[in-house]
Amino acid sequence: MNQILDQLESDLSGATSAKEVEALRVKYLGKKGSIVALMQELRNVEPSERAAYGKCVNDIKEAAAAKIEEKLRRFQEAELNEQLDREKVDVTLPGRRDRLGRRHVVLELLDEVVDILIGMGFSVQTGPDIEKDYYNFEALNFPADHPSRDMQDTFYITSDILMRTHTSNVQVRVMENSKPPIRAIAYGKCYRKEDISARSHVLFHQVEGFYVDEHVTFADLLSTLREFFSKLFKKEVEMRYRPSYFPFVEPGLEVDVSCFLCEGSGCSVCKRTGFLEVAGAGLVHPEVLKSGGIDPEKFSGFAWALGIERLAMLRYGIPDIRLFMENNRRFLEQF
Ligand code: PHE
Repeated sequence: MNQILDQLESDLSGATSAKEVEALRVKYLGKKGSIVALMQELRNVEPSERAAYGKCVNDIKEAAAAKIEEKLRRFQEAELNEQLDREKVDVTLPGRRDRLGRRHVVLELLDEVVDILIGMGFSVQTGPDIEKDYYNFEALNFPADHPSRDMQDTFYITSDILMRTHTSNVQVRVMENSKPPIRAIAYGKCYRKEDISARSHVLFHQVEGFYVDEHVTFADLLSTLREFFSKLFKKEVEMRYRPSYFPFVEPGLEVDVSCFLCEGSGCSVCKRTGFLEVAGAGLVHPEVLKSGGIDPEKFSGFAWALGIERLAMLRYGIPDIRLFMENNRRFLEQF
C-alpha cells in the first residue's frame, strides 16, 4: 500500500499540468484505479483482519485524494496567475472619449433672436405647425382662390388643413385670446412646397414679432426694427426699406440692413450692395385686426418676420441652405 502512495508521489512530481493531474486521479482513484483494486481484495482477506485492512485502504485513499487535490490546486493557481498576467488591463491608459453632441446652429441662432426680443418686452406665443387654412391664409386677408396664395407654395393635408407656410399664423390666434396692448413673438418651423436648391428649402425657421396697441405708427415699427437688428448684429445698423406686398400688412415692406461685415462699403456677403435683405414687415392690415376681434378704428399694429437659416447663412457665410438639413458632422461641428 505504501508503494502505491510512493508511486503516486513520483507520478505527481512528474506532472506538468492540471490536466495530467486529473489523469492521475483516474489512474489511482477511478473505477479501474489501483486503489479501488485494493478494495476489491477485501474479500480475500481473513475476516478477523478485514476491519484493519479496510481502514488501511481508506486511509490510503484519503491520503491519495489529498495529495492529488493539493497538486491540482497548485496548478490551478499557477494557471490563474498566468491568465491574469495575460489579460492584464492597464488602468492608466487614457479612456476613449465620448463624442459630445451640440445644439444645431439654427437652434442656437433662434434662441439668440428670441432672447433679444424677450429682452425688448415681447412675450413668446405659440401656434401649430399643422394649421387650419383659416389662420395661415383666410384670417390674414388672403382670400380663397386669390392669386396671393401662390406667393407661398403650400403643402396641403386636406383642403382646409395645411403645413403652416409662415409664423404669421400665430397673429390672429393671439389676437383672439388677448386684448391690446399685445407684444408677442412666435417662432418655429415653416414649410413650403418649393424645389430644394441652394437658396430655398421645404423646411425653414422663422421668428415673427408683432405689436398691437393704440396709436402704433410706422415710426414705431422702424425704431423697433432698428433696435432689434442693432442688438442682433451687435453694432448700429443702417436700414433701408423697399415697398413690398403681403396681404396681411399695409403698407408692406422688405427690410435691408447695412452689411455687418463691410458696414456698407460692399463685400461678398452683401454681393457688393452694402445691404442685406433680412425681413418682411409692415403695419397690420385692418382686415387682420378685424379677424382677431380688434377694432381697427381704435387700434393699429405692426409685424415683421425673419428667416433664421437666411440669417445664419449671412452671419457665417454659408453658401447653401441644404447644409442645415444634411447633418454632416464636419459642417455642424464648426459652430
Ligand atoms: N409672413 C411673411 C412671409 O413669410 C413675412 C412677414 C411677416 C411679412 C410679417 C410682413 C409682416 O413671407
